[in-house]
Amino acid sequence: MKTYLVTGASKGIGYHTVLNLAKSGARVFAVSRTEGMLGQLENPGIKNSIHIIMEDLTSASGIGNVLKHLDKVDALDGLINNAGALLNKPFMDTSIEEWKEQFEVNFFSVVNLIRSLKSKFQKGSHIVNISSMGGFQGSQKFPGLSAYSAAKGALSILTESLSTEFSSEGISVNCLCLGAVQTQMLEQAFPGYQAPVQPEEMGKFIADFTKNAHSYMNGKVIPVALNNPD
Ligand SMILES: NC(=O)c1ccc[n+]([C@@H]2O[C@H](COP(=O)([O-])OP(=O)(O)OC[C@H]3O[C@@H](n4cnc5c(N)ncnc54)[C@H](OP(=O)(O)O)[C@@H]3O)[C@@H](O)[C@H]2O)c1
Repeated sequence: MKTYLVTGASKGIGYHTVLNLAKSGARVFAVSRTEGMLGQLENPGIKNSIHIIMEDLTSASGIGNVLKHLDKVDALDGLINNAGALLNKPFMDTSIEEWKEQFEVNFFSVVNLIRSLKSKFQKGSHIVNISSMGGFQGSQKFPGLSAYSAAKGALSILTESLSTEFSSEGISVNCLCLGAVQTQMLEQAFPGYQAPVQPEEMGKFIADFTKNAHSYMNGKVIPVALNNPD
């Protein structure tokens, strides 16, 4: 049985990624601070294959506790770094604390988690980092998203760097730069905006990508968007 860990699992894209992986017969460790929509799952087959871990990935103890939950897991087939948060604020109004918070959740939590879980990756493991079109070099940028986009851009470069470091061990690292998806994050940041993609669709795409794409690509930073910027 394949084993995956998905962060940002309580709602939105991460929740649907978890469901898709579980429906395909995998065991899934699902991390977020709250259980959110995972707490309402009723299908016993799916429910039993999902292990909910409620931890804050921006804290050292949170990452340590995630590791404890994986004590008996020898190997991970995939890690999907999907947890994130978006700050929509003009650059000159942002504080350095807000910049640090954006980098903590969107970037440093990923660095810490990959470092902590490294011994569980083996030949054939696939690490997928979820970035944004705003973090894709050369894409159209939005005013107000400088901190978020910079943190997501750092994730793209981390992906390319780690893919070279880990390739001799057969561990693949890829990055998906998503366009707009209709989730709570998008609704809060851009009220009234209608995204062309639903979280159910993106969750299925990410689950399928994580299961299969590393046979064909490594170190790739891929725009997943119907238009630019969407
Ligand atoms: N929606 C879009 O249009 C869009 C576009 C481009 C990229 N993305 C990226 O896609 C990913 C998912 O976004 P989404 O739209 O599905 O957002 P969402 O609905 O707001 O979900 C974010 C998830 O991250 C979790 N999370 C946030 N901070 C956390 C922390 N400190 N520790 C652990 N978990 C944390 C949240 O759970 P808790 O609150 O329970 O912790 C939640 O499950 C994000 O990385 C986002 O940047 C989204």
